[in-house]
Amino acid sequence: MSTVAPPQRVEHQMTDKGSVPVYATGIVEQPWSTYTDSDHRVWSELYARQQEILTGRACSEFIDNQSRMGMTPSHIPKFDDLNRALRPATGWEVIGVEGLLPELAFFDHLANRRFPVTWWIRKPEQMDYLSEPDLFHDLFGHVPLLMNPMFADYMAAYGRGGVKAHALGAEALVHLTRLYWYTVEFGLIREAAGLRIYGSGIVSSKGESIHCLESSAPNRIGFDLRRIMRTRYRIDTYQKTYFVIDSFEQLMRATEPDFTPIYAELASQPAIPAGEMLASDHVHTRGTGEGWSSEADT
Ligand code: PHE
Ligand code: CO
Repeated sequence: MSTVAPPQRVEHQMTDKGSVPVYATGIVEQPWSTYTDSDHRVWSELYARQQEILTGRACSEFIDNQSRMGMTPSHIPKFDDLNRALRPATGWEVIGVEGLLPELAFFDHLANRRFPVTWWIRKPEQMDYLSEPDLFHDLFGHVPLLMNPMFADYMAAYGRGGVKAHALGAEALVHLTRLYWYTVEFGLIREAAGLRIYGSGIVSSKGESIHCLESSAPNRIGFDLRRIMRTRYRIDTYQKTYFVIDSFEQLMRATEPDFTPIYAELASQPAIPAGEMLASDHVHTRGTGEGWSSEADT
């Protein structure tokens, strides 16, 4: 039986998930045999609940690839089993980690097509919310789209871009992190049948899966790289603004250019509050702003 060292919390750091523990960088073997019945039940219930909500709400690539990878509600998947489907599809693999990683370690994994997944799952009393990513968010939310070749390339390019931005300095990282937030975590995509979800932060949340598409409160705006890089976001409430791509190809192409001159250009421009709209925005929906928190955006 494999044993795993206890979580090595380094310190609390302000990250894009709020003030959270940032863990040691080591890769851990998934301690699959130590998951309790309760752990498996949490996975099953969250999975079944999301499966129902995401039908007709998540993009077809997400839904189709989830079953193609062999993810099911019956029990917490074994990383090794998922990797047998993932590796031949796009060259990606899932690795186990204790939790959020220091930025550079995270970027380096992505650049090398390793997606870090937190090995532990939330407790039954945390079904609706917890402040740091767990196995359900990381695995259910992020991994299915890594089966898609275009999205898989985007994530690896993001990792390389992260290593570069890290060397350029804190401001470049802020701009790049906003792109990750508004695409990988909270992105919407336009399909023939209507708007659909592809962001991991949304698909792993019951409330936001409904809110992002059905609520009249948030803005829904067409993807615009510079606009996104200037836009603050929410870490503790639903997003005030969602950005909509037309295709993963659009996302790929828009992010292909070298960001170094873009970071330089943006350095002199003010950040945009999370809920603000600009005259230049391509508007899908103008939000009513109902229920918006007046606390500061991140
Ligand atoms: N083109 C970006 C750069 O030069 C890298 C990148 C690609 C970042 C895709 C994010 C997503 O920094
Ligand atoms: Co995430």
